[in-house]
Amino acid sequence: MNTYQLAVLPGDGIGPEVMTQALKALSAVESKFGFSTKLTECYVGGAAIDNCGKALPAETLAACSAADAILFGSVGGPKWDHLPADERPERGALLPLRKHFSLFANLRPGICMAELVEASPLKNKIIEGGFDILCVRELTGGMYFGEPKFYGEQDGEIVGIDTLFYRKSEVERIARVAFESARGRDKRLCSVDKANVLSSSMMWRDTVEEIAKDYPDVELSHMYVDNAAMQLVRNPQYFDVMVTENTFGDILSDEMAIICGSLGMLPSASLGEGKGGDGKKAFGMYEPSGGSAPDIAGLDIANPIAQILSLSMLLRYSCLEAEAADAIDLAVRRVIASGLRTRDLSNGSCGEKLVSCSEMGDAIAAAI
Ligand code: IPM
Ligand code: MN
Repeated sequence: MNTYQLAVLPGDGIGPEVMTQALKALSAVESKFGFSTKLTECYVGGAAIDNCGKALPAETLAACSAADAILFGSVGGPKWDHLPADERPERGALLPLRKHFSLFANLRPGICMAELVEASPLKNKIIEGGFDILCVRELTGGMYFGEPKFYGEQDGEIVGIDTLFYRKSEVERIARVAFESARGRDKRLCSVDKANVLSSSMMWRDTVEEIAKDYPDVELSHMYVDNAAMQLVRNPQYFDVMVTENTFGDILSDEMAIICGSLGMLPSASLGEGKGGDGKKAFGMYEPSGGSAPDIAGLDIANPIAQILSLSMLLRYSCLEAEAADAIDLAVRRVIASGLRTRDLSNGSCGEKLVSCSEMGDAIAAAI
């Protein structure tokens, strides 16, 4: 029997409660598909600051290094916002984890199921039948990590500086991930940049064009990020795969999530070299794309689906348990189709049944 070592990092806010639901789904697929997991649960983010004095304790990093994959909840909240930037949950734990393991490829599948068209803020006629977009976000470069990064006094005035820096090799590798992903789908890739203004984007566009020569079967287009933000709400069905730099991807993926029905539906996989899914196991970190939602934490009303689908991506890419991953995806679809809705997905229509976070988790585990 295959056994996988997983580092489980629930984190802050709704992280722990949605993680509990994902672990129910994990138990269900383990018994059904005959594999096992060894879970090491660790503190991260604000929870780690409170319990261990820092956002990314050495024990947590060691458990992640020893694992086949990391299942991550969410970090951050107002309680820790007064701390110096580099000690806060986001810059003290999440970004260092991404960087430490070189998880440069962040896959965010934005799927609007036909059943959830009503939950989308877009007009029904725009998204009839739903849509399916994969956002490939570069995750370890760009403004998030570029130096200099500074907030303080310079020449007698307070200034703030971030640097949008990319190496060509960083663009090449994320472009390859995107082209490969497009190959496994509808073979259409849209590269999003701001090449009419930014030098980094001019380099990005030229580099994507060069890599495109290796993928003549994939249709490549380019779009400025402002236009992409607009096209996402005007005609989301235009997109198949989009690839973009870190900050643009952060912004566009939230937009993509909400037009799918809710931020609570969008999982993500952050992968390094050896992307997985192609017969090669990849180390990765899997987390919902939405945040820790401290305003609803502990109320048992959060949507656990993004966390559960993140587990599915983990099983697919880091464990190569494709059948188990398919079973989770199918269970989510069936539960949605049966009318169960957490508060974020509810529109008060008569066929739906409003459920709590834990009831949604139970229903999905039962459907598996
Ligand atoms: C995300 C989140 C993070 C990001 C935050 C929490 C640092 O918004 O994963 O999209 O900006 O990358
Ligand atoms: Mn974000």
